[in-house]
Amino acid sequence: METLFQTDLSLPKRQGKVRDIYELDDGRLVIVASDRLSAYDVVLPTTIPGKGRLLTRLAEFWLRWIESEGICRTHLLSTDVADIPQSAWTEASVTPEQLAGRVTIGRRCEVLPIECVVRGYLEGSGWREYVQTGEVCGVPLPKGLERCSKLDEPIFTPATKAEQGEHDENISAERAAEIIGSDRLAKIRDFSMEIYARASAHARERGIIIADTKFEFGVDPNDPKADPILIDEALTPDSSRFWPVSSYKPGQSQPSFDKQYVREYLETLVARGEWDKSEPGPELPEDVVRGTQERYTEALRLLTS
Ligand SMILES: Nc1ncnc2c1ncn2[C@@H]1O[C@H](COP(=O)(O)OP(=O)(O)OP(=O)(O)O)[C@@H](O)[C@H]1O
Ligand SMILES: [Mg+2]
Repeated sequence: METLFQTDLSLPKRQGKVRDIYELDDGRLVIVASDRLSAYDVVLPTTIPGKGRLLTRLAEFWLRWIESEGICRTHLLSTDVADIPQSAWTEASVTPEQLAGRVTIGRRCEVLPIECVVRGYLEGSGWREYVQTGEVCGVPLPKGLERCSKLDEPIFTPATKAEQGEHDENISAERAAEIIGSDRLAKIRDFSMEIYARASAHARERGIIIADTKFEFGVDPNDPKADPILIDEALTPDSSRFWPVSSYKPGQSQPSFDKQYVREYLETLVARGEWDKSEPGPELPEDVVRGTQERYTEALRLLTS
């Protein structure tokens, strides 16, 4: 299968870990999902062929779903590669065919510098924090929870958006309110909780537990007083933990449809002293690439069926 590591449209560009972001001069952004994979905030040299297309389709599905459910506005305008201006291609080595299915055109917003994490289950940094303190981001939790336990109610656990090269850091709601203001924080918390509640019900009926997920919101510069808009991708295996309902069992790590599979492979390298989670990342073997493709494909199929 054809793969895409990076792109070179003739437009002002910024490169995220997974996506290349271009600015159009009318306030729109062209976001191109490559096949890059990042783990522990390191971009790996090996691509996952087709991953950018799977992510784009799944995020488009969810953004339209969130709008149709009337939860909040999103940045999504189009996913049509034909909406990229002709002039952007003249000196590009990539072709419209290569970018088809990888493009999200969105309203450019001022990004609110808080990652809106919602957790329905206890894993990852939430689990680690709970083991040390009995709390996650200042939210006290009952004693005796296990790894991957389902929480009585989903919790909102904000994180700071790290500068390039840094890791996101879990923060309390009080700290998040200091950064963006308490009214704004309340709004994006309510939107995040509502999206998570409804989307996780949708996913559960289709055999997937959304254990946790991350949203980003922005403010429309032309309408700064309006409610924040959901931006970026949402509810994909890159931004969420997806577990099969059928094999869920607390007290251990779960099989997953997301990057956890790659992380587990990488942890075997770390345990052998072959990698220390810093740049440059290691190559992935062929079977891990294929396993990741299969998981992302299956998540898309189940969630959009
Ligand atoms: N509508 C939007 N307006 C402004 N920025 C957006 C919008 N949608 C997404 N973004 C930004 O585009 C980037 C998406 O690319 P990607 O996910 O690859 O980056 P990242 O590595 O996660 O983030 P970073 O830029 O923090 O390194 C994110 O930085 C996100 O905040
Ligand atoms: Mg991102």
